[in-house]
Amino acid sequence: MNRMLIAMLTLSVSAAIAQGPPRGPRREPVTITSAPVAKDAAEEKILGVLDDMDKTQRRGSLSVPVEDGRILRLLVESMGAKTVVELGTSIGYSGTWMCLGLRKTGGHLTTYEIDPERAAKARANFQRAGVEKLVTIVEGDAHETLKKFKGTIDLVFLDADKEGYLDYLNTLLPMVRPGGLIVAHNMTPRMADPNYLKAVTTNPDLETVFINKEASGVGLTLKKR
Ligand SMILES: C[S@@+](CC[C@H](N)C(=O)[O-])C[C@H]1O[C@@H](n2cnc3c(N)ncnc32)[C@H](O)[C@@H]1O
Repeated sequence: MNRMLIAMLTLSVSAAIAQGPPRGPRREPVTITSAPVAKDAAEEKILGVLDDMDKTQRRGSLSVPVEDGRILRLLVESMGAKTVVELGTSIGYSGTWMCLGLRKTGGHLTTYEIDPERAAKARANFQRAGVEKLVTIVEGDAHETLKKFKGTIDLVFLDADKEGYLDYLNTLLPMVRPGGLIVAHNMTPRMADPNYLKAVTTNPDLETVFINKEASGVGLTLKKR
């Protein structure tokens, strides 16, 4: 083969690679969404209560958005979490999402709330959803009440006073099992405590990623094995 022919062949092969796979007819953009689909009657009942809470009790509750609730359930269930601790119960919305996972893992949620009115609403909601046996609500200032907590924790969900996250982390991290998770809500430039951010991003025992950054901001911190 002469040099000219080799050069022409090389050029056409490179052009084909650069073009990528052959294109088919132009497709309409696809909208990617999903809604929970209940597997059994109990799940249907819990999802119904969550939907009602979202529509009728969200105002003033500071509850997590639906997507974040679904992520929490997914984490709890997929990691087989048995012991979950939540700071900031409010009306029990995120807690109820986590109970969807806990009823499958045989686990338990201990959740802390300083406001007695919100704690009472949470109690009623857990009852309505039929998950009250899966939850213990601890009323009072969690910076105090948390000191009594004992046990090995699979997942912590931080969603109370933002300036308190570092104190909660320092108290709970020794009890989180290797391979356990600390999920922190409202990790946005406006709301996140820089001291907490520093603590979870500079400790070599931890691996932290941030998701949903443009919306609510969720920090996922793994305690490495
Ligand atoms: C953002 S809301 C929690 C929302 C809830 N996780 C949900 O998504 O349904 C924060 C809650 O933390 C509670 N809180 C604030 N400081 C607290 C403290 N020191 N101890 C316990 N609860 C506290 C507030 O009363 C409020 O209900």
